[in-house]
Amino acid sequence: MKSIIITGGAGFIGSHVVRLFVNKYPDYKIINVDKLTYAGNLANLKDIENAPNYRFVKADICDFQTIYSLMQEEKVVGVIHLAAESHVDRSIKDPFSFAQTNVMGTLSLLQAAKLYWDSLPEKYEGKRFYHISTDEVYGALELNHPEGINSPQTQHKVYGDDFFRETNKYQPHSPYSAAKASSDHFVRAFHDTYGLPTIVTNCSNNYGPYQFPEKLIPLFINNIRHRKPLPVYGKGENVRDWLYVEDHARAIDLIFHKGKIADTYNIGGFNEWKNIDIVKVLIKVVDEALGRKENEDLDLITYVTDRAGHDLRYAIDATNLQKELGWSPSLQFEEGIRKTVQWYLNNQAWLDNITSGEYEKYYEEMYKNR
Ligand code: NAD
Ligand code: DAU
Repeated sequence: MKSIIITGGAGFIGSHVVRLFVNKYPDYKIINVDKLTYAGNLANLKDIENAPNYRFVKADICDFQTIYSLMQEEKVVGVIHLAAESHVDRSIKDPFSFAQTNVMGTLSLLQAAKLYWDSLPEKYEGKRFYHISTDEVYGALELNHPEGINSPQTQHKVYGDDFFRETNKYQPHSPYSAAKASSDHFVRAFHDTYGLPTIVTNCSNNYGPYQFPEKLIPLFINNIRHRKPLPVYGKGENVRDWLYVEDHARAIDLIFHKGKIADTYNIGGFNEWKNIDIVKVLIKVVDEALGRKENEDLDLITYVTDRAGHDLRYAIDATNLQKELGWSPSLQFEEGIRKTVQWYLNNQAWLDNITSGEYEKYYEEMYKNR
């Protein structure tokens, strides 16, 4: 069995990646390393927790000694690194924890992988260190077409003339994206300096089941259900490029196995939306699903003070990944958003556990003896 560490596997995207790998690759041992911060939730992985090729290890990626010992113990050949502090608003309040986990945590993993693989006779042969990053490192794009224009390549309109490409300059604006940018630089430095077999991908906004309800889509679905105000930052004009989380997990699988060492791939949905338009779609779909009158909840929209340093537009050009590895998003947004809304409406207990703090007790009880 090949042992692979997936960090942050109890979080939103990580749980989809762990599930995909555990189910698809019975000959891999998947070791989920997660500190279980407020964002980590083992309930996200209930369906595979007893799988014979799965192990959960509660650990902080910043704890170099624990990670290094685990790599030796499990003879790890690959790392897929997702663990991070991931919420921009939190980074504005507490930048230190973002630098600590996203930068120092990544460095600790890199150094552990390097030292362990250096000690083996075959060294880096057959090894991979895959770092999951974000499109936010590229900064913000212009919004040249405020009403959007049709584009043959995209599922939806585009709002500008420019896109994030792999060759774009790094220009992060938030403490979150600055910390992610710094971690990307460390990963590339470990390739360029030591030859560590690294890959980096930068993905756009994900949506789907198991996302922590501090992020726009799950937060607003839950608020619409409970008829709570929907705090739209600024004028709601900011544009994001949305990708269904399982499509991201599929891309990660493909790139982990077939991507070129030392390369960078941008992953995105070709699917730009203004926040305010997404909010209206969510209201429509939730109201429909709950049998409410059409658009009954539009008056929940509440414009609030903008996020500091709020990036205006993100839009990924994922052509490189499409051409080289044949990946493209499988799900149209309308279908993805309906699936997502239905999942949150069907899983109110999951949301309640998180929002009430109950889930913390749950995992402590379940995993205290591990
Ligand atoms: P998340 O916040 O839902 O999950 C993060 C996970 O990391 C949690 O399980 C948490 O417990 C764990 N973690 C945090 N600090 C840790 C530490 N010090 N040691 C071990 N584990 C720790 O995040 P997400 O939205 O699933 O994002 C996962 C990764 O993907 C991040 O690296 C993020 O930057 C990147 N990303 C996210 C998106 C998105 O739209 N959510 C898009 C592009 C890239
Ligand atoms: O682009 C990839 C990034 O997408 C990831 O790297 C981040 O980890 C992930 O959190 C996400 O960042 P955003 O800041 O774009 O996501 P968020 O869901 O926080 O916000 C989406 C947009 O909605 C953004 O323009 C801010 C706005 N917003 C968000 C919240 C939570 C609101 O208007 N109101 C809100 O209450």
